[in-house]
Amino acid sequence: MIRRSSLNGDERHLRLREIGLERGIAMRNQMFTGLQPSGDGLHIGNYLSAVKGVLALQETHDCILCVVDYHAITVPYEPGALRGRTLTPATEYLSAGVDPDRVTLVVQSDLPEHVELAWLLGCLMPLPKLEQLPTYKDKKARYGSPRFGLLAYPILMASDIMIYKADTVPVGKDQLPHIEFTREVVRKFNQTFGETFPEPQARLNEGAYVPSLTGNGAMSKSDGKGNIDLADDPETIRGKLARAVTDPARGRRSDPGEPTRCPIYAIHACFTPQAMLDEVAGGCRTATIGCLDCKRILADQMIDELAPIQARRAELIAHPETVRGVLAQGAATCRPRARETLREVRQRMGID
Ligand code: TYM
Repeated sequence: MIRRSSLNGDERHLRLREIGLERGIAMRNQMFTGLQPSGDGLHIGNYLSAVKGVLALQETHDCILCVVDYHAITVPYEPGALRGRTLTPATEYLSAGVDPDRVTLVVQSDLPEHVELAWLLGCLMPLPKLEQLPTYKDKKARYGSPRFGLLAYPILMASDIMIYKADTVPVGKDQLPHIEFTREVVRKFNQTFGETFPEPQARLNEGAYVPSLTGNGAMSKSDGKGNIDLADDPETIRGKLARAVTDPARGRRSDPGEPTRCPIYAIHACFTPQAMLDEVAGGCRTATIGCLDCKRILADQMIDELAPIQARRAELIAHPETVRGVLAQGAATCRPRARETLREVRQRMGID
């Protein structure tokens, strides 16, 4: 018998929390986020939107961070280059201050339950929805003849989130269509088989869109030229910033600029305290500082913030067994929860 509710997904979730509180059960919100492994590690866009988003939530939420290696094979790749890469994002999360006593770090391929749930959810969703998603269209144009895995990518992502009944997902802006799609999957499942999942909300912070240093779109792992990586040393950071594109109106130092047109200013806003940021913006508009001065201030701020992260990173790289231990513990924590959701879903879908 399928029950329907007059409340929308968010209202239902709030109501479930209220019922929990009325019964003295303190329900903590469940946070989930994922990150693809890559050889160069995280760039500052990943760091600002996903990693810092997690740091802000680890006090208040149950948090799961997942290295999504099954997503990384949906486009052509080298098996040799992928092997061992799952340690890099986990190392960088831990270096950045993610506390393994409070946060669960896990590798997607350690939990085949994610893939089984993805199959079950995939049997529910109409094909055109998947074909319309912008990342599918972009990657199809970039890599040619798309594989089934690329089309199914958002289903696996929905499964990652839903298998832990997560309600909070810190991501960058590029992932918003996938979160919206996940909400559709949740609604479809709940309407068809009865109340099971909360509708997750994306959590964006001020680093949710970090532009490429080339001035061309967002910083991205596939376009290494415009990136600053979390592991870059001070000299590399200064060099990359010195070559970065700024407001085209500032051809000469004496030309006034408009900070909101400048990719460097957008990055400044994520690293520089407000008072200093206001000075930089004022100096740019009145041409009292040049682009090189502005970049030097940003480099100093960024290098200061990244230095302790890089020191911890070096320690963890010297002791990979520490990171492996955290990931093994993560899989052990997640497995019973993933299995429990699968059991419930199978039962609701009549496969029990
Ligand atoms: P991925 O690995 O491409 O990126 C990881 C996170 O970094 C964010 N990001 C950015 N944020 C700001 N500015 C940028 N230039 C920038 N580039 C990337 C992404 O938005 C993301 O938050 N499909 C996901 C991984 C995934 C996932 C999930 C995420 C799989 N399952 C479940 C959340 C929940 C991806 O490829 O992220």
